[in-house]
Amino acid sequence: MNGETSVFLSSGKMRERVEQLGQEISRDYPEGPLYLIGILKGSFMFLADLARAISTPCRVEFMGISSYGKGKKTSGEVKVTKDLDVSIEGFDVLVVEDIIDSGVTLTYLLNVLGQRKPKSLEIVTMLDKPERRQRPLQPKYVGFQIPDEFVVGYGLDFAEDYRNLKDVCILRDGPAAP
Ligand code: IMP
Ligand code: MG
Repeated sequence: MNGETSVFLSSGKMRERVEQLGQEISRDYPEGPLYLIGILKGSFMFLADLARAISTPCRVEFMGISSYGKGKKTSGEVKVTKDLDVSIEGFDVLVVEDIIDSGVTLTYLLNVLGQRKPKSLEIVTMLDKPERRQRPLQPKYVGFQIPDEFVVGYGLDFAEDYRNLKDVCILRDGPAAP
């Protein structure tokens, strides 16, 4: 944990934006149940706040996917490490992600979930780095678009550290990726 962090998006700013997203989602999905599928672990804080900002009846599920290992770049290899415990057939599904970078992880996941015949399948991501996209992926809801910087906090980690920071911070001069 020897990287330097500087606040990029304050907790207040995040709170305000999450509130707006919640209102938008509630308007777009007036009827529940809406399945919120949080992608572990990075989305846990965003999901907890977002769920409370949505007035539509929601059900909360989690999936585990790994693609990064301990580095700062995607390994390109994606695998499901924890699957859903329920069927999503016929339900509105919103995948809740922390950040979209190359888009490799979510492209894979949308394929997996799409085969399970949900009524609808969309993405809400807290952060989006569109510059780095390697797959044509368009999330329905984006908290903030950010430049190509490595960020931590508000659920986001670097090698499992920094998740509990309440602001989204830029991490610089950290240990080199293995
Ligand atoms: P993608 O497959 O390249 O879109 O990778 C998305 C995943 O990479 C996210 O769910 C994060 O777990 C991780 N990730 C991408 N960029 C960052 C970052 O700036 N900070 C922390 N994790 C990141
Ligand atoms: Mg993630």
